[in-house]
Amino acid sequence: MFQTSIGPSGGLAGYLRPETAQGQFLTFQKLLEFNQQAMPFASASIGKSFRNEISPRSGLMRVREFLMAEIEHFVDPEGGKSHPRFVEVKDVELALLSREVQLGGKTDVEKMSIGKAVSSGLVDNETLGYFLARIQLFLKRLGVDQSKLRFRQHMANEMAHYAADCWDAELLTSYGWVECVGCADRSAYDLTVHAKRTGVPLVVRETRNEPLRIEEWQIDLDKKKFGPRFKKDGKAVEAAVEALTQEQREIFAGELNKDGRIVIDVPGVGNGKVELEKDILEIVKRTRVENIREYTPNVIEPSFGIGRILYSLVEHIYWSRPGDEARGVLSFPPPVAPTKVLLVPLSTNPEFSKLVRRFSHKLRALGISNRIDDTSASIGKRYARNDELGTPLGVTADFQSLKDGSFTLRDRDTMKQVRASEEEIVAAIKSLSEGTEIWEDVAKRLPEFTEQQVD
Ligand code: GLY
Repeated sequence: MFQTSIGPSGGLAGYLRPETAQGQFLTFQKLLEFNQQAMPFASASIGKSFRNEISPRSGLMRVREFLMAEIEHFVDPEGGKSHPRFVEVKDVELALLSREVQLGGKTDVEKMSIGKAVSSGLVDNETLGYFLARIQLFLKRLGVDQSKLRFRQHMANEMAHYAADCWDAELLTSYGWVECVGCADRSAYDLTVHAKRTGVPLVVRETRNEPLRIEEWQIDLDKKKFGPRFKKDGKAVEAAVEALTQEQREIFAGELNKDGRIVIDVPGVGNGKVELEKDILEIVKRTRVENIREYTPNVIEPSFGIGRILYSLVEHIYWSRPGDEARGVLSFPPPVAPTKVLLVPLSTNPEFSKLVRRFSHKLRALGISNRIDDTSASIGKRYARNDELGTPLGVTADFQSLKDGSFTLRDRDTMKQVRASEEEIVAAIKSLSEGTEIWEDVAKRLPEFTEQQVD
């Protein structure tokens, strides 16, 4: 926890969470209930976290308060932590920087499918591998430059106390490689520690398909004699008896049979040794049938630093048009661009403006963010300033629009245009914004428009 002081005099200590994870562990039993007790399942949380960063600097990179998003995927540790959907991502290639390579003082990455990384044991298990692949696919969708992404395995001495294996998705920026997403196998550490401290079990209970038959040594105490004999020490003696291991029970069963008595250690009672005779306890081997399996799940945790991802993304997608340093372009992919469409009447002709406003209304009704630029600046200038804002698509209304209701659609990155009916252009904008199509798909199906190219 990050300690701080609260109140006007600052005399009151306050504690700020260093991660969002713990809230999810504490509510595990409720989360399991919400999931109808079915395993595996995941929860997710996004919110502010706090660290006592000694020297905050580097923009959004080193800060004391940051936005964090964490998934806790709870998995049965039996069966090697497999993942039912691993097959969907097994061929995804990742750039991996293993612990081994780092130990050799190198930073060479090895490109490898996640399927191979898991089967070779480099990545500990399928669930961890599944999330590494999904992290890469997520970052790709955001627009992160894939040549500036690597997954670095934590060194044994660098891993958090809770981690069994841990990889960081690092992005290359002007500050060097920056950890943006951590992906750790936290094993059963957190649930076990919380349960121990609070006394509330955080476990999964499952009905077994086949009941489990367990042969074990059981101890029967004659409670009627036990109480009067040990009086105030009764509880301590009983606890010591119950704590005997199966191995000890087997040995004591033999002794009890042979000598009619045993002597067990009970610290704090008498001289620390207590004698028990065969009239007060019996040790017998019985078969116990277990219909319920109880276990503490393991947790795989992808943990995202939102500010760092955003900062790195902006660095990755900002570029200048060749030959003109001043013409910057921010290439947000359409699904993540804050404004999807720029609407521009070709000139100040009021008829164009009317068409553009109607178009804007249609897009708004579909929930597609858009902006009209009907200033008197040249169309090239209007495109240029929206390129810099990261608006991926531009729609123009011109004389042809007045004649036949068609519009042009421009792709920010290639500056290519197509011309089609209003209906077709709206449909293309929708699929581009939702990420179901990319510009190349649209350019293939709609006629190219070259007459009024603006650069
Ligand atoms: N929960 C992972 C972290 O706090 O870094």
